[in-house]
Amino acid sequence: QDQKMPSADLITLTRHVLDQQYTLGDNASGDLTLLLTAIQVTSKYIASNVRKARLINLVGLAGAENVQGEEQKKLDILSDEIMVNALRASGKCSVLVTEEREDAIIIGSNPSHAHLVGNYCVTFDPLDGSSNIDAGVNVGTIFGIYKVKEGSKGTLEDVLRPGREMVAAGYTMYGSSCNLVLSTGQGVNGFTLDESLGEFILTHPEITIPKRGKIYSFNEGNSKYFHKPTLEYLESIKYPKDNKSPYSARYIGSMVADVHRTLLYGGIFGYPGDTKSKDGKLRILYEAFPMAYLTEQAGGAATTGTERILDVQPTGIHQRLPVFLGSEDDIKDLMSFYKK
Ligand code: AHG
Ligand code: MN
Ligand code: MN
Ligand code: MN
Repeated sequence: QDQKMPSADLITLTRHVLDQQYTLGDNASGDLTLLLTAIQVTSKYIASNVRKARLINLVGLAGAENVQGEEQKKLDILSDEIMVNALRASGKCSVLVTEEREDAIIIGSNPSHAHLVGNYCVTFDPLDGSSNIDAGVNVGTIFGIYKVKEGSKGTLEDVLRPGREMVAAGYTMYGSSCNLVLSTGQGVNGFTLDESLGEFILTHPEITIPKRGKIYSFNEGNSKYFHKPTLEYLESIKYPKDNKSPYSARYIGSMVADVHRTLLYGGIFGYPGDTKSKDGKLRILYEAFPMAYLTEQAGGAATTGTERILDVQPTGIHQRLPVFLGSEDDIKDLMSFYKK
């Protein structure tokens, strides 16, 4: 019998970030705390729209395409606008990169926003997994944060940098509960939205990914196009030698949900490059980097197959990259096939 009482000492996301602020190199200015507060609010508002989508005519297509040639859903566009408006208004950002806009937003380039220019750059996927939205399957928001370079007022160069230079990254998953998972470079912590309080509460302190998992998460419908190392690796976990059990398959098709499960249960998530899409599908700045950052911070690994993801130097804001991430031992196994 569980005789514990409800907690009388809630750690909210704001309290947690304030606690960490002094060791963040933020000069205790509180700027990153305020920026993360803005992101918290956008997450709550997007969560509320996702939950009500069917009721308020928010399902379906918006009638436009984004720069990657994807049909934009109404929720893609609404989430994008919610984030751009809130991040700009926070007064803490100088550059914003979003999946849904071809060009980066340089806050200072608009004279009427000059007073809003801040020290951070945010790259984000406002709504990840939008193909799942109309079926009520988990979707999310992914974000990565850089600090502008010394003396810069915000240019493309401030975001075209290796992922290891990010100062924070995270995602919010809109699922059976709304979970925000964050790293400011001191491990990974997970928060659950308590809707009655309107606050994210620390429910998953210091998330560490198991050293080895039992789950693989790939879109195997693309097998026809996969390269040999990917195919041979998948073969090795589906038909293991020495009487070992084969891995289980789990693939949701929302990176946020697939990575969330991988962080908690372990295993491997992959979206490889193949003969059809040389660099795979996932975008470096707002999908690969933030998720690689979180995975490493949770004690796992993230690779393109041959190179550490966080060491990649991006050259374009919507550039794609092959991604494999997850448990340390599973990623080692995968890489051994790419070394052959
Ligand atoms: P988005 O909805 O932001 O465009 O991202 C979709 C991505 C990612 O969420 C997921 O891992 C992947 O696309 C799924 O792609 P497939 O449908 O090709 O499996
Ligand atoms: Mn998209
Ligand atoms: Mn996405
Ligand atoms: Mn998206």
